[in-house]
This record gives sequence, structure tokens and C-alpha cells, in this order.
Amino acid sequence: MIDDARPTGAPAGTPAADPFAPGPETPVEALREAIAAELQAARDRTAALTDCVEDTDLTAQHSPLMSPLVWDLAHIGNQEELWLLRNVGGRDPMHPEIDPLYDAFQHPRAERPALPLLPPGEARAYAHEVRGRVLDLLDASPLEGAPLLDAGFAFGMIAQHEQQHDETMLITHQLRKGEPVLAAPPPPPAPADAAALPADVLIPAGPFTMGTDTEPWALDNERPAHRVELPAYRLDTTPVTNGAYLRFIADGGYDDPRWWAPAGWEHRQQAGLTAPLFWRREGGQWLRRRFGVLEPVPLDEPVLHVGWYEADAYARWAGRRLPTEAEWEKAARHDPATGRSRRYPWGDAAPAPAYANLGQRHLRPAPAGSYPEGASPYGVRQLMGDVWEWTASDFRPYPGFSAWPYKEYSEVFFGPEYKVLRGGCFAVAPVACRGTFRNWDYPIRRQIFAGFRTAADVEAG
Ligand SMILES: [Fe+2]
Repeated sequence: MIDDARPTGAPAGTPAADPFAPGPETPVEALREAIAAELQAARDRTAALTDCVEDTDLTAQHSPLMSPLVWDLAHIGNQEELWLLRNVGGRDPMHPEIDPLYDAFQHPRAERPALPLLPPGEARAYAHEVRGRVLDLLDASPLEGAPLLDAGFAFGMIAQHEQQHDETMLITHQLRKGEPVLAAPPPPPAPADAAALPADVLIPAGPFTMGTDTEPWALDNERPAHRVELPAYRLDTTPVTNGAYLRFIADGGYDDPRWWAPAGWEHRQQAGLTAPLFWRREGGQWLRRRFGVLEPVPLDEPVLHVGWYEADAYARWAGRRLPTEAEWEKAARHDPATGRSRRYPWGDAAPAPAYANLGQRHLRPAPAGSYPEGASPYGVRQLMGDVWEWTASDFRPYPGFSAWPYKEYSEVFFGPEYKVLRGGCFAVAPVACRGTFRNWDYPIRRQIFAGFRTAADVEAG
């Protein structure tokens, strides 16, 4: 779950240099610059999402699933103060009385509108004041000598945290009723060769390295690196499209319990599910609402706003299954030529616009088959960006896991009630997306920007 419970999540102001690409150690000055650029990119995004609405919109709750936007705004500042000014800098709390209001574990989202939250002007001023002090701290920090400081980890965690809330706030915008307020960005590039792509690719049997010991800003649940042996399997070349999903609907997929896990069927009945969230049928045509605009469902785009139960049912209807998390990561990172795991499907270079649809550059997924330059060595496309991909796997710790920097980041969420999602989506910033990055959520959740792709076993022999 990309959630406010975790202080962990480039767009306007994409940092130019990647201080973490393999090579000689980054000089501390370059690291400071990269951190400052990431913090600024996050703040630019936060401003874009909160300056476009009236104060009444900021304080309203648009869905019980979400916080009022003004809560996110001050919570971003509060976590930055807590982790950087207090934990790293040793400073005293600026406003200790507001800490409990912005502690995600003390107040579920549905309760937050009733709290005496800082009004919009004060929330902005607080976050701004914190940021000014953080930049002073960054200027003076050696960025080494303590676990929170090494390679600027705590600063990276906070940049990711703000970007994750920017994703959460974009979900709030999607749930918000009323006239559109977000500027319409240009559409993503259409793929030239989508029609010629194979439906799926074979990933041969063999071991690969899952997780990381070396990614400096990786979070605790991505660690440690460990070898995983997998049998051969097949994986869809692209995420499942709206067009394919419509065939599932037209074939009565929502009405046939054969395709659904028992809990999924029960939920489908209770919730009255008949199509992805935000879809409706009018005059024989399927329409979707996207950031306040009603538009025809584009057949060539990856399906979006389906829960895990729907993804699982579709896969069974198609005679396939969801990939496990390990299968997803092997397809995304393993390089059969070298035997090592890459940082991203395309290699070790930082995400760039030619590789993936990230960072809210386009407020929609790109058509299936886009981003040939971002393909993995096996030829799998769009593993990063576009839509989060549901996997078959429960959210569990890797062997040798240890909680860092605190239990509430991941450990308290481990268990069978959460399913893992991989690969980020168009709303995720590059800083908060890696080949090792793990997201998790409840299988009923549909407001998140999630789709899926399918896999199949390969007969032995
Ligand atoms: Fe948070």
C-alpha cells in the first residue's frame, strides 16, 4: 500500500545525474545536489497537486478511503521534520502538539477530517519552514558516518515519502467529484511495433538474484539480495489491455464463479462488481471517468482500477494465472547474458522518458507495447511505469529481513492479507521506483492505479 502509514513512494525537475549508477563513488557534493533536486522535484509535484484546487477542496474528504489533501500536505512536512530535523539533525520538535494529528497509525483516514488539522495556509507554511531548515542541514551534513546518513539514506527516504504521497494525492484527485482541475498533459507515445509483439515470452528455468544489498535508497522490505530458483514459465509481453478485459466482461466473466477465488466471488457479490472502477456503460459503449473527464475506454491501454480478485479471475478465465512476485522480478531484472540482476529492465541507468511512463508526465498509461527502449532482456515491456501490476504473492519478508529504520515501515504489514504489486505506475516518481521496489495492498482495492499481466507454467520435458 502506498500509504501514509510509512514515511518512506522525475516529473517536473527530474534530477539530471544519477548518483547511484554503478561506477566510482559519488563525491559528497554531487550527492547533496542530487538529494536537493529530488526534494525539490517532490515539492514541485506536491504544489501542482494542491495549488490547483480551492481551500475548501483541500479540507474536504473526497472519499473515506483517502485523507483530505490538507492532511497529506502537513503530514509530508511533519515526517520530514521528524526524520531529518529531529532524528538526523538532533533538533527539538517545532510543534510537538501537532505530531499526533499527523501520525498515520493514530488516526485512520476516515477519521482525519474531524481532527483539528492545520488549515491550508498554515500547512503550507509549516512544510516550507521545515524544508528550509532541511536544506541547511543537508549543506552541513557529511552524508556518512551513521546508518541514517550513509549515502543520504534518510533524505532519500523522505524524498520517496513525499512522492508516495503525491501518488496518494493523485488518487484523491481521481476520486474527487466535480469539474476537472488538473492540466491535461500530452498523451504518451504510441508504440510502433505493438501488433508484431509476441503475446508472451518464455523465461527459462534457473536461478536469479532477487532483492538488493546495494541499492542505497532501497527500503527494508527490498533487502537482502538472495538467490531464487524458478522453473521455466511464460509471461505476457505487455500488461493486459482494456480490449482484452472487455472480452472477459462480454464472456460473462463477472457472473461465473468458476473464475473467482472463493473470497473474491463473495466480494464480487457483496460489492456488486461488474467492471473496473470508474467505468460505466452508456448506449452500448464503455466509458471511463479519468480525473473528472468522461471518455471512451481506450482498447489498447493497459486495464486500470481493477482489484486483485478481478485480476485473478481474469487470469483463470484466460487459462493462465498471475505471476508470482519472484517471476515478475526475474523477468524485469535478470540478464541471462551476464547472470546478474539489473537495477531496471533496461539496465542500470536511471529512468528516463524513453524508458518508462513514470512521474505523472502523462496522467494515463501508455498503449500496450510502448517503450521498446525500456524492454527487459527477455523482451518484456512496460514492467516499470504505466500500471502497478498485481502479483500472486502475499507480502512477506525476504529471508534475512531486518526492519529498518523502524518496524512500521514494512514489518507490521507482512502477512497473507496483503498482495504485492510491482513496477510502479504513471503516478510514481522515478525516485520511488526500482526493479526491487515492492508495494502492497488489500485484494479488494481498486482506486489505486493498478492493472496486471498474466503468466503460465511451462510443461517440463
Ligand atoms: Fe506518510
